Amino acid sequence: MQIYSPKEDSYLLEKAVKKYSKGSVLDMGTGSGIQANNAVKRKNVTKVTATDINKSCSKLLSKKIKFIHSNLFQKIPKQKFDTIIFNPPYLPQDKGITDATIYGGKKGYEITERFLNTCNSYLATKGTILLLFSSHTNKKKVDEIIENNCFEKGEIDSKQLPMFEELFVYKIKKSKLLLNLENKKITDVKKFAKGKRGIIFVGKLKNKKVAIKVKRKDSFAKGNIANEVKWLKILNKKNIGPKLINKGKDYFIYEFIDGQFISDFINSCKNKKRVLAIIKKVMEQCRKLDKLQVNKEEMHHPYKHIIIRNNNPVMVDFERCKKTKKPKNVTQFCQFLVSGYFLELLRTKGIRLNRSEILLAAKDYKRNKNDERFSELTKCIK
Ligand SMILES: C[S@@+](CC[C@H](N)C(=O)[O-])C[C@H]1O[C@@H](n2cnc3c(N)ncnc32)[C@H](O)[C@@H]1O
Repeated sequence: MQIYSPKEDSYLLEKAVKKYSKGSVLDMGTGSGIQANNAVKRKNVTKVTATDINKSCSKLLSKKIKFIHSNLFQKIPKQKFDTIIFNPPYLPQDKGITDATIYGGKKGYEITERFLNTCNSYLATKGTILLLFSSHTNKKKVDEIIENNCFEKGEIDSKQLPMFEELFVYKIKKSKLLLNLENKKITDVKKFAKGKRGIIFVGKLKNKKVAIKVKRKDSFAKGNIANEVKWLKILNKKNIGPKLINKGKDYFIYEFIDGQFISDFINSCKNKKRVLAIIKKVMEQCRKLDKLQVNKEEMHHPYKHIIIRNNNPVMVDFERCKKTKKPKNVTQFCQFLVSGYFLELLRTKGIRLNRSEILLAAKDYKRNKNDERFSELTKCIK
């Protein structure tokens, strides 16, 4: 395997290394050693480790540098680095490119993605990653990978090359949120899903999977996180919603519900009785909400709001929950049950709901929301 001789990309990253590297440094994919050899000369650098998948790269390194032959982090002993440098192979698969020093994977960003997905556990609290990539790597995707790992980035340099290629250097660090979560002993933080108003991350707390809901920076919605925290505290006491674990500014941590969304569950469930039992349990939770005089909202299309775990429905997403004199959780859920799609889905499971009977009983319940009318209504679900 050839050792990569320094080119425009190496020299661009070298400028950043000369300016920002400090403390304990890791040079990933060291190649000719240009970055490591520069870092080791800096006064505020205490130690340099260089690594490469190509064993022969050790030859070109200063004696003060420790070399580890490794595929990314695989052979790097667990430790924290203040600076991690990487000029990865960043070009996408192209005719003729088989050279491991420049070929970054089918799309170009695969090695960068594997690197960033593992980087956090090797990065000191206030550590910095200096990363180079090209416009051929797919900048949007690199940004997304950075966000997925709860990092923050700044573009500190760029260079236009011939043939419409541009090089970029990013200075990446742990986001405030990630630092806060690590302070709360949460590890392995990764993005899970993006909603209209919030982003959900998942992580581990004492080996248990937890979810973290964060306000989206581009959302204008105000107070949703605080509202959801307030209602989870109240509703958890009634065994509704995922258990709230902790909260911070603009985010909260709660139990991760590992299960299936309601229609996926019903689709895959072969047992009519189990489906009916789930629907009744959801109805009971809706009744509890009505009694508390709150509206969860969106119960007429709760596709992503009810997760079935161990045969128990758990309602999620209480951002828009509010106090009301006219609660409509039960009636909205009944509307959902008799909506075209769901009615048909239930029919495939041998459950034939009588639409007009349910709507009439729901109307009666709406006029007088008592236990008796609720019981009459649930009797129609058979
Ligand atoms: C573009 S060269 C950069 C070399 C040097 N750091 C520079 O700036 O000129 C990429 C380097 O990453 C190394 N590399 C490729 N895949 C790797 C992997 N999975 N783990 C570690 N190093 C890898 C290659 O051998 C190569 O030396």
